[in-house]
Amino acid sequence: MKKTILITGGAGYIGSHTCLELLNCSHHIVVADNLCNSSAESLKRVKEITGKKIDFYEINILEREKLTKVFENHTIHAVIHFAGLKAVGESTKIPLQYYNNNITGTLVLLELMEQYNVKNFVFSSSATVYGDPETLPITEDFPTSTTNPYGSTKLFIEEILRDLYKSDNSWNIALLRYFNPVGAHISGRIGEDPKGIPNNLMPYISQVAAGTLKELPVFGNDYPTPDGTGIRDFIHVTDLAKGHIAALLKLDTAPGLVIYNLGTGKGCSVLELINAFQKVTGKKVSYKIFPRRAGDIAACYTDPEKAQKELNFKTQFNISDMARDAWNWQTKNPDGYPS
Ligand code: NAD
Ligand code: WQD
Repeated sequence: MKKTILITGGAGYIGSHTCLELLNCSHHIVVADNLCNSSAESLKRVKEITGKKIDFYEINILEREKLTKVFENHTIHAVIHFAGLKAVGESTKIPLQYYNNNITGTLVLLELMEQYNVKNFVFSSSATVYGDPETLPITEDFPTSTTNPYGSTKLFIEEILRDLYKSDNSWNIALLRYFNPVGAHISGRIGEDPKGIPNNLMPYISQVAAGTLKELPVFGNDYPTPDGTGIRDFIHVTDLAKGHIAALLKLDTAPGLVIYNLGTGKGCSVLELINAFQKVTGKKVSYKIFPRRAGDIAACYTDPEKAQKELNFKTQFNISDMARDAWNWQTKNPDGYPS
């Protein structure tokens, strides 16, 4: 059934892909995004691809009066909350901005939701809340910890949501802990558009393959993994976007507060990703081994069973698909979205 969903941070990487999937499911979309790390072009393209409209508010969610107007203007069924700053390294340099933006922004949003009696909430959390896990694969009941301000904002918001739910169990809240989202929509019209030199592996690989960057620094080949490089659970951003639709359906069953890992369950090393990318694109990715990056862990992948069982969430795309679609986006948009 068609519902009105408010998407904070909907112009961003994961948000834009989720808007697209929600529109394909005939939902009505309202986006609140201040474009601090994105471009309105992403939403324009989502509208073009789907042939559907989006109500877009270019606002900072900390601006209570402006956000109030969104709740005044629409009867919102659920909120998917992507808006947040996400660069781990940057968060260690400007922690107060991270705490203010991510935590205060969430508080303003939740207060307005309470005021307008909107009590279905999907939160973008992260596998980073598991810190350095003692064993693998990671299940949702693993202990949590963080080592940087970005991760702390995710963990603190999870705690805030737990307290909120304890105080009023008419809320339905899904904490979605994403593993490593990569790739782009199959059209190559929307994708990941990092500002400056990418921090993350896949966009870095794409830019080396395109010749924009000279060579990929591989951070460490002395991890206790089969080839010595770090292992991650890369998930295609379209699969991840669909996970939000599954979470919304779950919230409609009034489950209370629920937690799901969203990943494929398959670990892939840095070298394996480079090889898969080279194979599928025919492009060479020059790389050089560097020391380990501070704060990195050896390996991280989910046990996908809970999301499979309870959300009926199954990923469709494999590593080759992810590399293909990342490259398709890169070649069609060598400079990202036009500014
Ligand atoms: P993104 O930066 O592309 O998207 C975030 C969006 O939020 C941007 O469009 C930005 O302009 C907007 N935004 C930030 N602060 C805002 C504010 N105060 N008011 C309004 N809009 C604001 O990032 P993404 O990769 O799409 O990530 C989306 C969410 O998922 C984030 O919360 C992030 O922490 C989380 N997450 C991302 C990853 C990842 O690897 N990409 C992994 C786990 C969790
Ligand atoms: C993956 C692997 C690197 C870049 C980060 C955040 C996490 C989450 C997702 C938001 C690691 C290696 C990387 C490079 C490399 N975000 N690498 N050369 O670190 O797993 O997760 O994004 O919640 O919180 O920490 O992702 O893509 O940066 O790194 O060798 O230039 O690739 O060492 O093993 P990460 P990543």
